[in-house]
Amino acid sequence: MKTILITGGAGFIGSHVVRRFVNKYPDYLIVNLDTLTYAGNLENLKDIDTLPNYQFVKGDINESVLMNTLFEKYQFDGVLHLAAESHVDRSISDPMSFIMTNIVGTVNLLNAAREIWKDKTEGKRFYHISTDEVYGSLGETGFFLETTSYDPKSPYSASKASSDHLVRAYHNTYNLPVVITNCSNNYGPNQFPEKLIPLAIHNISHNKPIPIYGKGENIRDWLYVEDHAAAIDLVFHAGKNGETYNIGGHNEWTNIALIRQLCQTLDKKLGRAPGTSEGLITYVKDRAGHDLRYAIDATKIQQELGWKPSLQFEEGIEKTVDWYLANPGWLANVASGAYEKYYEKQYTSR
Ligand code: NAD
Ligand code: DAU
Repeated sequence: MKTILITGGAGFIGSHVVRRFVNKYPDYLIVNLDTLTYAGNLENLKDIDTLPNYQFVKGDINESVLMNTLFEKYQFDGVLHLAAESHVDRSISDPMSFIMTNIVGTVNLLNAAREIWKDKTEGKRFYHISTDEVYGSLGETGFFLETTSYDPKSPYSASKASSDHLVRAYHNTYNLPVVITNCSNNYGPNQFPEKLIPLAIHNISHNKPIPIYGKGENIRDWLYVEDHAAAIDLVFHAGKNGETYNIGGHNEWTNIALIRQLCQTLDKKLGRAPGTSEGLITYVKDRAGHDLRYAIDATKIQQELGWKPSLQFEEGIEKTVDWYLANPGWLANVASGAYEKYYEKQYTSR
């Protein structure tokens, strides 16, 4: 039996990764470590939380003593590190929590792994899940490669870039068996409605304005979350130590085109006349330092490990919209209380 630590498993991507590993690998004990910030929600895992190969530990990766204690207790064979502060807008208004969790928290985990594994690293793996935002912003052409220089522009991406550098440094300096992936924008069920797609679905359903930053011309490369989870599974088991793999959907959309597509899908599903929801589109003040375009070249993971996205975007969006419409309670729960205050502060001044 292998014991695997997944950090941030109550969040959006983490919950899909935990579910996949718990169901697919009954001979692994999956320990989900999450401090349950506003973005962590154990409801995301209620279908698997009684399974014998799953354990939840509420804990903060910023607490180094706790990390050492947990590694000592469980003697983890592998780590999939997803816990992070993940929202760019929040990093603009409150950078410090990003510095703490994304940089210091990552180093606490690296130290704990190093301390337990020492030089017995055969079969061990520290997998750091990162973002394409570390590469900065593209112009109208070109793609991010694994060799593209880092040029992060927001406090969020700078904190993720720092953590990537530290993970590599622990490999080079201490031979820690690490692997890193940098993925493009994910979408799908269970994403917190501060991010563009669930925010738009929530607002359209409630006939509220859909805030589009600037002119809506920024471009993102969207990947369905379960395709990301499949890539993570593959890299964890077959990736090479010390390597980086880019993961992306080859699926670029301007924000405004994506929102129009979402409006059309929701008009159909909600029985509204075509064009109704588009009337909710509202242009607001741009995000500070807003990256123009992200686009991933995923040739390396495709050629070396045989991964490629399984879903077309239209199908993924349909599944996503269906999930949010079928789970209004989930959205209502997370969109209440503290989130309402955040929303008011974030959008009323724009
Ligand atoms: P999320 O914000 O939905 O979830 C983050 C989880 O981490 C939450 O459950 C939260 O409670 C937990 N967490 C936060 N701080 C913690 C701490 N100090 N200790 C323990 N747990 C803590 O994030 P997500 O969108 O699922 O992203 C997961 C990872 O994937 C992040 O590292 C992010 O940088 C990376 N990533 C995200 C995307 C995307 O499009 N969402 C794309 C590429 C990479
Ligand atoms: O590229 C990977 C990254 O994708 C991840 O590392 C981040 O964790 C994740 O949050 C995401 O970052 P983005 O900033 O690209 O995602 P977000 O959903 O916040 O915004 C997507 C685009 O939509 C971006 O150009 C900003 C714009 N936007 C966003 C919001 C919340 C709007 O126009 N209006 C909005 O209200």
